[in-house]
Amino acid sequence: LVTSPRIFSNYTARYACLRASPLVCPNQALAAELGVLYLHRDLEGKAVNALGYQRAISVLKAYPRVITLENFDTEVRHLPYIGEKIQSKVTYLQHTTSSHPEVEQIKEFIRFGVIEECQTIRASERFWSLKTLTSVHGIGATTARNLYSIGLRTLEDMERYYDVPVADDGTLKLEEEEVIYTPNGKRIPRQARLPDLSTKAALVLRNDLEASISREEVEEMHAVVMAELEELQPGCVSTIVGGYRRGKLQSNDVDIVFSHSDLRSGGNQVKGLCRKLVQRLYDRGLVTHVTHLSGFHARDAMRTSHWDSLEKALTIFILPSDGTQKRSHRRLDLIFAAPEAYWTGVVGWTGSKMFERDLRLWAKVEKGMKFDSSGITRRHDSKKFFPKSELEVFEFLGLEWIDPTLRNA
Ligand code: GTP
Ligand code: MN
Ligand code: MN
Repeated sequence: LVTSPRIFSNYTARYACLRASPLVCPNQALAAELGVLYLHRDLEGKAVNALGYQRAISVLKAYPRVITLENFDTEVRHLPYIGEKIQSKVTYLQHTTSSHPEVEQIKEFIRFGVIEECQTIRASERFWSLKTLTSVHGIGATTARNLYSIGLRTLEDMERYYDVPVADDGTLKLEEEEVIYTPNGKRIPRQARLPDLSTKAALVLRNDLEASISREEVEEMHAVVMAELEELQPGCVSTIVGGYRRGKLQSNDVDIVFSHSDLRSGGNQVKGLCRKLVQRLYDRGLVTHVTHLSGFHARDAMRTSHWDSLEKALTIFILPSDGTQKRSHRRLDLIFAAPEAYWTGVVGWTGSKMFERDLRLWAKVEKGMKFDSSGITRRHDSKKFFPKSELEVFEFLGLEWIDPTLRNA
């Protein structure tokens, strides 16, 4: 464990973007136990209560010592969001402080190594069912509660409910799309529209999509995508962001931010490139489904005078088989930024989610700025700022540099 005092110097800060949060912390087991309470509240739709736990966990992740009853009373309980009563008169901070994990629950963990309520939650059929149902891509907590209320408990129940076709050998079948092959082997799908990932398809692919992705495979996927992009538009640049960039050994998906190295062109090489790349990857059989494609809708066409947002595609991707190993479908998020928005894009998509949440809050409350992956806007006159490096993003917002591997808030 990295426990140098310098790295942990800001652990009492209220904003996650001021705290250095390592991937693995000295109180990992406590964070995991509180994570059960967070997940339980989240699945039950208790958003405010869930956020309270999420914030407390985030603060504990930056605490540099193993928590004991002694340092809990002298220090830990005085940390922000831990055992905190509502004091703030500022309304937008109020909802984040109105709920907090019981101080007694943390003490319980220090004494016994478990929290009683977590034991109860873990023994509950409803909790496991909701957890299982939400493991299917596209099924959120609200849908899961509705499915539960009409009697669904397991993935098998879901298969029947969504009428997933089963093959003769008992395996689940993905509905075949109609494809024509040209003489040189190019795949031309009959349907013009890229296929959405339906709940049916998500159920069929669930084992693939639930499995985590090694750093090696993340890098391989990145290389394959970049090679295709280079054919389409030479000179593009990219950074693998998300959990991979924060040092996670196993990722749940792959996130890549793209732009073009030519800063003077006003982003002409990148505009519309996201869709072109996704179409090309689909034609190659590399992308099989698209769960979201933005930047091309009618409402976006209304602000074409200057391109101020990012184009992104959330896709399902599969590496070509090399004959020796079976390949799995993976989630792949592609984000295209105009050259001047590249670094805000990289910062905005590196995460963690709590780090990003507080980065936006910090910019707004403390700096009068709106931080967005597509740029920074000064609130009083809407002036836009585009930092030229990741460090400049931090400096511009008056933040001390925090390495990506310490943004696991
Ligand atoms: P795993 O993928 O679970 O390994 O972790 P992760 O941190 O990479 O999570 P995820 O891929 O969901 O998100 C990566 C980062 O992108 C997070 O910091 C999110 O805040 C950010 N992000 C995700 N979706 C969006 C989005 O729709 N818009 C913006 N601006 N940011 C997003
Ligand atoms: Mn990710
Ligand atoms: Mn993602």
